[in-house]
Amino acid sequence: MNNKQTAAITAVGAYVPDNILSNNDLEQMVETTDAWIRSRTGISERRILNEEGQGTSYMAIRAAEDLLRRGNLNPKDIDCLLVCTTTPDMSVAATAAYVATKIGATNAFGYDLQAACSGFLYGMSTAAAYVASGRYKKVLLIGADKMSSIVNYEDRTTCIIFGDGAGAVLFEPNEEGFGLQDEYFRVDGTGREHLRIEAGGSMLPTSAETIAAKQHYIKQEGKTVFKFAVSNMAEAAEQIMKRNHLSHEDIQYLVPHQANKRIIDATASRMGVSDEKVLTNIEHYGNTTAATLPLLLSDFEHLFKKGDNLIFAAFGGGFTWGATWLKWAYQSSKH
Ligand code: UT7
Repeated sequence: MNNKQTAAITAVGAYVPDNILSNNDLEQMVETTDAWIRSRTGISERRILNEEGQGTSYMAIRAAEDLLRRGNLNPKDIDCLLVCTTTPDMSVAATAAYVATKIGATNAFGYDLQAACSGFLYGMSTAAAYVASGRYKKVLLIGADKMSSIVNYEDRTTCIIFGDGAGAVLFEPNEEGFGLQDEYFRVDGTGREHLRIEAGGSMLPTSAETIAAKQHYIKQEGKTVFKFAVSNMAEAAEQIMKRNHLSHEDIQYLVPHQANKRIIDATASRMGVSDEKVLTNIEHYGNTTAATLPLLLSDFEHLFKKGDNLIFAAFGGGFTWGATWLKWAYQSSKH
């Protein structure tokens, strides 16, 4: 990436629902224990959107509004709005279009991006490319998922993991070389055997049979997904470090997808990055799919200094995975 003009994150925002689903609550719903969930995943609680008739856009709008407030921005200045999500409000009618209209981004175009848990990581690439090329100046990138809408709360292997939430970042041009530096992305389509929603798409449309067979819920072979996630997320992060000659000392923070604390720890250990550099909030939100990375940026924005090297890493359904190197571009006002 040798463009003179880089694309940097200049503002962040987030929203999580107030309603908490704790491990103790889940103990009443499926055969599990708080101790098992904590030790196998690092999760204590997750947020669930239970507003009647509301979908992912409800959270995406609030995350975008939080960003506009924190960044003191006018929504009319936004050129493009992207919503990364696996749980759009509807399969036809981009959630991004609705969010743009609701926040008053009247001069923006927008669309949705779907790459499961890697959605936001890949979206960073799209947003940054739009900006670095000079094509657009302000691109609002949102990661939002209402995972509770596709989780079977009778399946203990998935219902303990996922939660709902949304986060947003703004990409703008940067003349000092800060922002997105490099990325390493991969896919493996055989992965859909191990992590998927079987019905409701074009291969197996919705029918009375698919509903009866519970084929509209997310299903995964946890162990297989876990193995792929550990090796591929760590490998991608290692590749980014190697080809940019970055040592663990050069890295201020690892921003990892929050799927399982053990996957995060394995990635950090392979990178040689010490615990205090690893950002986590999985304990309180669980796996919010496309929202995990921007939720981390929002929660830990106060720590970041101008010039800090952040390594993002994610792995998800598809399979999709990768790692991105980004130089933080501003000093948070909380310093
Ligand atoms: O974001 C990307 C997508 N998802 C992921 O990255 C998730 C990756 N996978 C995982 O995080 C883990 O595989 C899980 C958390 C889903 C499961 O943890 P695990 O350590 O891989 O457990 P396991 O599937 O190997 O199961 C071990 C035992 C089994 O019992 P037996 O056969 O040994 O008697 C399971 O039936 O734990 C049992 N088990 C549970 N026990 C209590 C599975 N789920 C639960 C549960 N509570 N919720």
